[in-house]
Amino acid sequence: MRPATVAVWDRAVRVFHWALVGTMGYEFVAEAGTAWHENLGYGLLGLLGFRLIWGFVGTRYARFRQFVVGPRAALAYVRAIKQGHPARYIGHNPAGAVMVLGLMVMIAATAGTGWAMTTDALWGTAWIEILHRVCAYATLAMIVAHVGGVVLASMQHRENLVFAMITGAKRRE
Ligand code: HEM
Ligand code: HEM
Repeated sequence: MRPATVAVWDRAVRVFHWALVGTMGYEFVAEAGTAWHENLGYGLLGLLGFRLIWGFVGTRYARFRQFVVGPRAALAYVRAIKQGHPARYIGHNPAGAVMVLGLMVMIAATAGTGWAMTTDALWGTAWIEILHRVCAYATLAMIVAHVGGVVLASMQHRENLVFAMITGAKRRE
């Protein structure tokens, strides 16, 4: 008999995810512009660098090839969500996948503009500080949407996706 659950998120993806959550939480809640803020920002770039490599060499559901789709597929999936009968995916669904990629890009842009503020060329320049804030708060809005999407998908498919990101397992059918 086949087991009732599938191992979806490998340990590296789970550690990456919750490290991202903890670090991003710190970046927003603790005082900005401190050495910790800066170093943890670089830490986030390290995490993303690792995930980028893991997206090519990691386990099945961690690979970009498994979940990356274009905007058309994502929009079609959003329509299916609205109509109340979206297909269930074992890995990231098309809408979630686009959000995941968007989050990765925006976290990199936020950390990148943070670093740029510390360079001799841009130190003390207003526009880069504004851009850093805009990137940070746009990312925050995306995080709210991401968590909303996770809650909605959990309800529509009657499965606890947060639990799946902790244990790594999802039911097969
Ligand atoms: C700082 C906040 C967060 C960020 C930046 C973030 C980012 C991400 C990223 C990049 C992934 C893709 C994982 C991968 O393939 O490596 C992901 C997936 C996921 N995240 Fe988050 N996340 C955040 C907060 C949360 C929170 C608070 C929850 C739970 C309440 C959550 C639940 C999930 C779940 C369940 C998935 C898997 C989605 C699926 O089943 O397709 N995330 N998140
Ligand atoms: C993804 C990672 C990061 C996030 C989410 C983030 C978030 C933020 C936020 C929300 C603020 C504005 C706080 C406010 O509104 O008062 C801020 C300010 C600041 N950040 Fe970041 N940051 C990140 C990475 C970095 C990095 C890597 C550096 C530098 C190496 C940096 C340097 C600064 C500085 C110097 C300020 C103060 C700017 C000012 O005085 O206006 N940040 N950051």
